[in-house]
Amino acid sequence: MDWSALKAAALAVQQRAYAPYSDYRVGAALLTEDGGIVTGCNVENATFGATCCAERTAVFSAVAAGHRSFRAIAVVTSGAEPGTPCGICRQVLAEFGGDMDVLCFTPGGAEQTHRLSQLLPFAFTLK
Ligand code: THU
Repeated sequence: MDWSALKAAALAVQQRAYAPYSDYRVGAALLTEDGGIVTGCNVENATFGATCCAERTAVFSAVAAGHRSFRAIAVVTSGAEPGTPCGICRQVLAEFGGDMDVLCFTPGGAEQTHRLSQLLPFAFTLK
């Protein structure tokens, strides 16, 4: 898969991260079933628990725009090592993504790819 457009979108939206408390900036770009890209950044809050991760911002924006199926997500994080999606975001991605590809990378060039089913085996369902 050619990740270049998805990575570029993640890097662009990382610039919009609102992270005054952690200074840890995250950008996420989802590839929708029809080939579109929807992005999100982390949005922190003085009440720390109200913070929303970049991955969930992207998923919620995509769903609000009418997309419910995703092929892949690219996530760019601050720090030396790529950060993988947190547990809550993995569960949210699993709701819509099936077994999507997850690319985690840094602006410095470190990257790793996973399948969502590797990151979250036995995701919760109501079945
Ligand atoms: N964060 C994300 O945006 N995605 C993750 O998967 C993990 C953490 C954000 C939340 C918070 O703004 C900052 O990174 C530090 O936890």
